[in-house]
Order: sequence, then C-alpha cells, then structure tokens
Amino acid sequence: MSGPLILSIESSCDETGIAVIDGGRRILGNVVASQVAMHAATGGIVPEVAARAHLRWIVPVLDEVWADAGIAWSDLSAVAVTYGPGLAGSLLVGVNFAKAVAWVHDLPLIGVNHLEGHVYAAWLLDPDEADRAEPVFPLVALVVSGGHTFLVEMHDHLTYRLMGSTVDDAAGEAFDKVGRLLGLGYPGGPAIGSAAEAATARDRVFPRAWLPGTYDFSFSGLKTAARRVVTEARLAAGLAGDPGTPLPDDVVAELAWGFQDSVADVLTTKTIRAAREVGARCIVLGGGVAANSALRARLAGEAEALGMPLIVPRPGLCTDNGAMIGAAGARRFAAGEWAGLDLDARPSLPLATR
Ligand code: KG4
Ligand code: ZN
Repeated sequence: MSGPLILSIESSCDETGIAVIDGGRRILGNVVASQVAMHAATGGIVPEVAARAHLRWIVPVLDEVWADAGIAWSDLSAVAVTYGPGLAGSLLVGVNFAKAVAWVHDLPLIGVNHLEGHVYAAWLLDPDEADRAEPVFPLVALVVSGGHTFLVEMHDHLTYRLMGSTVDDAAGEAFDKVGRLLGLGYPGGPAIGSAAEAATARDRVFPRAWLPGTYDFSFSGLKTAARRVVTEARLAAGLAGDPGTPLPDDVVAELAWGFQDSVADVLTTKTIRAAREVGARCIVLGGGVAANSALRARLAGEAEALGMPLIVPRPGLCTDNGAMIGAAGARRFAAGEWAGLDLDARPSLPLATR
C-alpha cells in the first residue's frame, strides 16, 4: 500500500501519542508523552487526572511530531483518532482535538478502534528501517494489553473473528497486580519482566488455567495463587509482621519468573494451537504485554518450529502510541470508512464477535 499520509492521535488511556504515517506503514514522526511516572505516585490510573494530562500535553506532542515529520498541512490525507475502547475522559480529549484539526484543515476524519491499532502496529516501519515483508492472511493475532487479552483470526484487512478472550482479568492487569504484591510498584509489567530476567532459581511453578476446549484465558486464579505464595514467602523470611520491609530481591525474582512463565506458557500454547487450527500464514502479537521479552522469545521459538513467522513490533510500538492508530487508520481511509465530525467517544467499543 502506498499513499495516504495520516496524522494519527491516541489518547485512550495514559499515553498521549501522535504520529504521521505514510502509506499505512512508514513512520515519519511518532511522539508519546507517557503519564506512567505521574500515575506511579497513586499506584494506578486516576481517570480524571489522566484526562487532564492529555489536555495538558496534546498540543506540545503535536508540535514535536510536526517538527520531526517535516511535512505541510496540505500533504495530509486524513486525521485518524482512537474513539474507543478506553477511558471516557481521555478519549474525549483526543477525539475533540482530532475533530478540530480535521475541521480547520478540511481533512477527512477516521475513527479507529484502539485494539485494531494494536494489531496494525505489526505493519509499521521505523523511519530508517529497511523494508520488510508485511503480515499475510490468514493470520492469528494475540493482543495482550492492560485492559484486554484476546485472540482474533483475520482473513483480510479490517475483518476480525474473535477466537477467545479473557474471562476475567487482562494479562497486563495480572502483571500490574502481581507487581504490586511483590512490592515492585506501578506498572508491574515491565518491573516483573526485569525482575524475572535476574532470577537465578527458575523452577517455581505457578498454576495455569487452560480452560480446555476454548481459546479463552483466565488470570484471576493465578493472581490468587500469587497472593498466597507471597504470603508464604513473607512468613518464611520472617517478614509476616513487618509489611514495610520488602521480600529479598532473589525471592522476588524467583516469584516474578514463575508468574511470568505461567502467563507466557498459556498465551503461547493457545496462540500456537489457534494458528494451527486456522492454517495461519503468520502470527501477530501486540499490546503492552507484547513488550515482555519472555513472551516474545517463547512465542517466536514455537512459531519458528512450525515454520510460521511471528510478527511483533519493537517494544515501544507494543505499548500505546499514535503510530499504530495511523497504520489502522490508513486502511480505514483506503476503505472509504470516514467518520463524520459528530464522531463520539465509545468507551466500550468492541473489536470483534465470535
Ligand atoms: O497496550 P498498553 O500500553 O495499554 C493498554 O491498552 O492497556 O498496555 C499496558 C500494559 C500494562 O498492564 C503494563 O504493565 C503491560 O502492558 N506491560 C508489560 C510490559 N510492558 C508493559 N507487561 C509485561 N512485560 C512488559 N515488558
Ligand atoms: Zn493499548
């Protein structure tokens, strides 16, 4: 695909992301202002605080992207924006901003599903990256983020059949909760990843919820098991009556490794099974948890054994960003799916049905 030059805006959760994407693939500019440090103070996201931070940063982020991309307004084909799912207040900031830009510059407005963005991140190319093969259909995509965990089958662009999804927590939510239990702060995902890499004892087995006969996932039992194991470890370390003292680093590392191994095992096994059933020609992995190196390595290894390419963006394009919205937005633009200037935010927007 060559062609449309898309200005794309993402503000569904706690990252203000804006990008300029050429032909649905090439990143000309991509800036993300993260609120992670701010939300670390409260141990999680406070929706109103997140919305106000988008309001504060959206114009400076656009200024920076604009300087990087080096294009004129008249070069643009459309403005794409995430309109759901996500936090209502956060979405409203991005949608309203995108409308204003589209109206002022007389550009088509494209509404993009955030989850579709995580899938389409697999198409992106960095500014100086050599061209490489794009994902081919049919494919199976696993999206693992802070709010969602699901497997979809795609036989063509923009068409999704839901194969399975979490019946309780999202994988990222489980990482964040267990990170908190281990005293690793917010967000738990990256912290568990680094703690696990330092683990010397790699034999702790956490439970796996297989939910046989389905492609669904469940992480709440794993979270309960982690709570029990942390309590036992604190007792064993003589810290039961001393909540202010953290567990020793080597124990945290061992438990982080065991938890991560359980999540990576279930996600990989089900994804590979789904890919075989569908006769997929490739597997796409996306969403914040796809930044996890153990999951990436495990899925890459098993996909390679099947002779099936795994396409996973670099970690910075797995977590929320504007570029992925431009990649998906370019496809919607090409399909003539333009939104009206009455586009509304849809906090519970679904991606696919079974
Ligand atoms: O896709 P994302 O940036 O935002 C949502 O759409 O939810 O995903 C955020 C989630 C958080 O739960 C975070 O802890 C997790 O992705 N995450 C990771 C890693 N980096 C981010 N989880 C495991 N390992 C990582 N390296
Ligand atoms: Zn996301």
